[in-house]
Amino acid sequence: MQTLTTLAELRRQVGAWRRAGERIALVPTMGNLHTGHLQLVEVAKQHADRVLVSIFVNPLQFADASGGDFERYPRTFEADRQKLVESGADLLFFPSQEEMYPAGVENVTRVEVPGISNILCGEFRPGHFVGVATVVAKFFNMVQPDVAVFGEKDYQQLLVIRRVTAELCFPVEIIGVPTVREANGLAMSSRNQYLSAEERQRAASLYRTLQAAKEQLISGEGDIAVIESAAEDSLKTAGFRPEYFTVRRAHDLQPATADDTALVILAAAWLGEARLIDNIQLQR
Ligand code: PAJ
Repeated sequence: MQTLTTLAELRRQVGAWRRAGERIALVPTMGNLHTGHLQLVEVAKQHADRVLVSIFVNPLQFADASGGDFERYPRTFEADRQKLVESGADLLFFPSQEEMYPAGVENVTRVEVPGISNILCGEFRPGHFVGVATVVAKFFNMVQPDVAVFGEKDYQQLLVIRRVTAELCFPVEIIGVPTVREANGLAMSSRNQYLSAEERQRAASLYRTLQAAKEQLISGEGDIAVIESAAEDSLKTAGFRPEYFTVRRAHDLQPATADDTALVILAAAWLGEARLIDNIQLQR
């Protein structure tokens, strides 16, 4: 597996693959790779001849790029590289901040998807989805992949990226991959390492609460507002500090009405030092 750090080298290699008629998949990440990320690589291999993984901790999607969450985000390059070699990825793109944002993070041209970017996680993390949309659009132009693979764990992010792709006319097929979980149900996340061993066990009740709400909705018990507030209460009892727990339409994340059949239940909650998100889809 090659590791490249500059756009010029990247374009040379991707150009050679393309001239050879090979199909290229992109898996964008921020590193600190776990089994969830590696599952995206597996799916990418099924859809392309070459799999390119990027690792870039994107300052533009953190609230405070000069400190806080951005600074403490885990950076584990050597271990990540080793995992990618074992997973059979063909190329690791690991650009510097200067390579990605030569004019500086403050001055970069931005991509904004209105509406969906400002609700749920976007309400609690202002600017976050502009940062995500911008960096993903940049990667699409840098790599020009045929397919790009993302996790359903970040459900709202996946919808934002689908809209960027459609509305900016990127000729890229977007593939969503179901969430990979720990044995106890906790969605795998780089942020789980901010949890103590005891919190990691307790964290599994986030998924259990989503599952319970799903069962209630499918069986037609209770109204949505009652289900949402009961779930928030049970998360608080388990020691979480919930930001939201909400039932939405799967295609645009607007509040679900009685007529909507394709739904997603989404939750964000703090446990100790970690902000956890998870979701579960359902048809009723
Ligand atoms: P990161 O959090 O590193 O996630 C990279 C990709 O892995 C995303 O598509 C995410 O949804 C997926 N992923 C994370 N945990 C997963 C799990 N447990 N199961 C399945 N997929 C999982 O998301 C980002 O980085 C960034 O916002 C990025 C898209 C790279 C833009 O900077």
